Amino acid sequence: MSRTLDHLLDQNVAWADSRTRADPHYFLRMSEVQRPAYLWIGCSDSRVTANDVLGLDPGEVFVHRNIANIVHTSDLNILSVLEYAVEHLKVEHIIVCGHYGCGGVERALVAERSAMLDHWLQPFTMLYRKHRDVIDAIADAGRRLDRMCEINVEMQVRRVAATPIIEKAWMRGQALNLHGWIYAVHDGLLRDLGPHLSSIAERDALPTIDARVLAPAEPPATMKRRQALEAFARVGLESELAACCVCDPSQHGVSP
Ligand code: CO
Repeated sequence: MSRTLDHLLDQNVAWADSRTRADPHYFLRMSEVQRPAYLWIGCSDSRVTANDVLGLDPGEVFVHRNIANIVHTSDLNILSVLEYAVEHLKVEHIIVCGHYGCGGVERALVAERSAMLDHWLQPFTMLYRKHRDVIDAIADAGRRLDRMCEINVEMQVRRVAATPIIEKAWMRGQALNLHGWIYAVHDGLLRDLGPHLSSIAERDALPTIDARVLAPAEPPATMKRRQALEAFARVGLESELAACCVCDPSQHGVSP
C-alpha cells in the first residue's frame, strides 16, 4: 500500500485544470463570499453527497453531515453550523435528508450496544424501542428499515425546528423553511417526506413523532417526480441496497 496519496493530489490538479479551462473565472468567483441558499443536514454515507444529489455547484449549499443525519440538540457541531447558516449566511431552506438503507439507522434496530455510535443513535433507538411492536410487525426487513429511515428524517426535522436558533429566526420574521427528504441510493432520486415547516405555529401544529410512527403515510410526490419514480422502477432497480455509512450491524466493528 502506498504511504502517500499522490494519485489524489494529481487528480486534484487535473480537476482544477479542467475547471479553469472550462471557465477561467471559476476559482476567482469561488474565492468571493459564499452565499448558499440551502443548508443540508445529511448522512455521512459516502454515496450521498449533497452537491451531486442536488446538481449544485460549490458555493450553493452549506453542508453538515453525520452518521444517520441525527440532530442532537446538545451537539456543538450541528448547533454551530445551524447558527452560522441561519444568522450569518441567512439560508432560506434547511433540508434534513436521510437515505434508504442507512446503516446508522439499521444499527439502531439491533440489540448490540458496544460502540460510541450507539450513544450517538440513542434518541432514535429509544423511539424504536417505544414503538417496537408496530415496527417489528413489518415483516419484510428491507421495508422495515426503509420505514425507520423515513421516521428518522421526520424526527430530525422536528428536532431542528425545536432549537432556539430556529425559533429566534422565526420570531424575528426571517424567512426560513424546513424540509424532510429522503434519498434512494439505488435510483438517485430524492423523495419529499415532509414536514414542511415555516413558522412556530406550523411546528406546534404538527402531530407528534409518535403519532407519525403509528400512522404512516405515503410521501407526497409531484407528477414529474412520480413519473420519474415509476420509470426507474420499470428499469428494475428495486432496493438491492448495500449497507451504507456503517458496516453490517451484525459485525461489531464500525467503519463510518
Ligand atoms: Co446512512
